[in-house]
Amino acid sequence: MAKAKNSSKPDAGKKKLAASAPSAPGIDIGIKDADRKKVADGLSHFLADAYTLYLKTHNFHWNVTGSMFNSLHTMFEAQYTEQWTALDEIAERIRALGFNAPGSYREFVALTSIAEEPGLTDSADWREMVRQLVQGNEAVCRTARRVLEQAEKAGDAPSEDLLTQRLQTHEKYAWMLRSLLQ
Ligand SMILES: [Fe+2]
Repeated sequence: MAKAKNSSKPDAGKKKLAASAPSAPGIDIGIKDADRKKVADGLSHFLADAYTLYLKTHNFHWNVTGSMFNSLHTMFEAQYTEQWTALDEIAERIRALGFNAPGSYREFVALTSIAEEPGLTDSADWREMVRQLVQGNEAVCRTARRVLEQAEKAGDAPSEDLLTQRLQTHEKYAWMLRSLLQ
């Protein structure tokens, strides 16, 4: 019966709780606010580059043609699958630093240093695809190095760690892809 009595005034209890609920505390993880913002901004650019390269690699997985079809279709799939998982880590690091992660095509286009490629009937020759992926992976590496420097200055070891791992992977992809053209 006591339960029925309480449920007769459901709003009263909720209002009291809302009034007394503490708001979220300010972020204090030991990194200066300005440095946190600088690293998060850098990571947003890095995420945009990584996302654009991911999409380009997936595009080429779909649209590659020619004598190299089988090996490139498989190679591109391995790369975009690994890249897709990494995107989540990058975005969530931005959130942990206290900022929103970019998550729309409009934002990515504005932030990325990599040009998008059309699909459909305008698909490039496989050599041109590989050349663009070498350049895309190298662009991701350059952005990672720039943000890594900011993270080092800010004493942000988790971002340094993440960027170092991504650098290692994208440098390897650039090497493997370049080898196809040599
Ligand atoms: Fe597929």
